[in-house]
Amino acid sequence: MQNTTKLLAMLLALSVSLAAQGGSDTKGKFFFKKSCKACHAAGGSAKEITPLSKTQAQWKAYFAAGKHKKGAEKLDGVVKPEQIKDIQTFLTNHASDSPQPETCGG
Ligand code: HEC
Repeated sequence: MQNTTKLLAMLLALSVSLAAQGGSDTKGKFFFKKSCKACHAAGGSAKEITPLSKTQAQWKAYFAAGKHKKGAEKLDGVVKPEQIKDIQTFLTNHASDSPQPETCGG
């Protein structure tokens, strides 16, 4: 009985920490527009990027690697590290093969 209680407590703690890791779609959209679109817009200094630029798996892999400019720098040097999770959530949620693909205003 005691073991079951311990196990339940552990599972609860685990699910809470997993939930905390999930970023915010809404905040991610805001940060993406503000931070990434500064360069990655049509006519900007880098090629245009939208959530549709990659599939969900590709965005996941991109953020897992955490590299930017073909590995020349780290992604958390480009935007504040605390914004990355939200940006990743937004891009993945609206990727080209996602249920709600989104171009983010072109
Ligand atoms: C200061 C300008 C600048 C900002 C801000 C910026 N990028 Fe980039 N990014 C570049 C340049 C320059 C390249 C390399 C040339 C190209 O692909 O146009 C690049 C390349 C990329 C690529 C292509 C693959 C790669 O890494 O080479 C992706 C995807 C990307 N950026 C995503 C992002 C995301 C997501 C953000 C916001 C978190 C962001 N960028 C913010 C300038 C920027």
